[in-house]
Amino acid sequence: MPTAVCPGSFDPVTNGHLDILARACELFEHVTVAVLVNDAKQGLFSVDERVDMLRMVTVDQPTVTVESFEGLLVDFCRRRGIGAIVKGLRAVTDFDYELQMAQMNARLTGVETVFLPAAPEWSFLASSLVKEVAAGGGDVSGLVPPLVLDQMTRRLHERREPA
Ligand code: PNS
Repeated sequence: MPTAVCPGSFDPVTNGHLDILARACELFEHVTVAVLVNDAKQGLFSVDERVDMLRMVTVDQPTVTVESFEGLLVDFCRRRGIGAIVKGLRAVTDFDYELQMAQMNARLTGVETVFLPAAPEWSFLASSLVKEVAAGGGDVSGLVPPLVLDQMTRRLHERREPA
């Protein structure tokens, strides 16, 4: 199949996300990273900031584009002619909800979901955990790209000591 989407919140993108993306690029001719606009959830980074970071860290991947989307993922896929959704699975605890979403998305438009097992070195990794550890002063270098680490450090500092 020529095209796929890697959807998510990416607040911020981690090395686990980038591993799944790189492996999706081996399977599909083109992969769109789609960042969900979720007005109900205040993130550490705005959606535009997340998209910018993703564009910067994928600049050397010519078959990747990064966009944001609102509403249903299946509608985004339909508008773009995207035939498959790629999701990473870190553990069986991910599977329940991911299976439900995959089956719902398939029922809505027939779009298929392809699950890739997380690489063992990233299977504990989640954006929420990275933010929590970084906010507590823990070392998260090596878990996110250096550019993301810089921006996250700066943002957390701003939050602690507003100008
Ligand atoms: O990184 P996340 O927060 O786990 O990503 C979840 C995401 C964005 C993939 C999921 O919430 C989603 O697809 N949202 C779009 C809205 C939608 O299509 N909902 C119905 C799912 S069956």
